[in-house]
Amino acid sequence: MTELRERLRALPTFPDALPHLDAESVPTHPLALFTEWLDDAIAAGERQPNAFALSTIGEGGAPASRTLIVKDVDERGLHFSSHRGSRKGVQLAANPVATALFFWRALGRQVEVTGEVTDLGADASAADWRERPNFAGQPNPEWVLWALQPSRFEFLQATHDRRHVRVEYLRGEAGWTHGQPTTPAG
Ligand SMILES: Cc1cc2nc3c(=O)[nH]c(=O)nc-3n(C[C@H](O)[C@H](O)[C@H](O)COP(=O)(O)O)c2cc1C
Repeated sequence: MTELRERLRALPTFPDALPHLDAESVPTHPLALFTEWLDDAIAAGERQPNAFALSTIGEGGAPASRTLIVKDVDERGLHFSSHRGSRKGVQLAANPVATALFFWRALGRQVEVTGEVTDLGADASAADWRERPNFAGQPNPEWVLWALQPSRFEFLQATHDRRHVRVEYLRGEAGWTHGQPTTPAG
């Protein structure tokens, strides 16, 4: 165990060159920053930059997480898909809220997105099913395309001095506001 502990602590951390995030000059709308960072991760050659961890609420309130692929991002939110009868499908039917967590290693960036989840309907779900790489010509009425409609974002840009820069966006009645979270960032 001690040897593992030493190896873990000796692993390299962030890449040498990290982008700078100026918390004072971020876009008013968090989706603009989100899509900019997603584009940056694609341009940086990040493997599966569209992968994220989706956390849902299970029975008894315990969180459950799994990796999914984000299929699109628009005014309805972040689209993702799966089987209605899956554990996540059952949990979302009972409690339609979730948190998505993206980590883009090449850039030292993390984004957390929380909000309500809605079913985008049979047509959108069928189109998503048809466009999957292994589509074999059969429809799948069990397949669902959902959207996570964000009410909170937290963007983190890592820094080598560990004073990671974070920006939190909250959706209120008058639209989005943003600022720097006051809780410590590790
Ligand atoms: C990189 C990666 C991408 C994945 N993408 C999806 C996806 O888009 N949809 C999906 O249903 N499962 C996807 N999976 C599998 C899920 O992580 C998960 O195992 C599965 O959906 C069952 O989750 P659940 O039991 O919590 O419902 C992916 C797994 C990995 C590692």
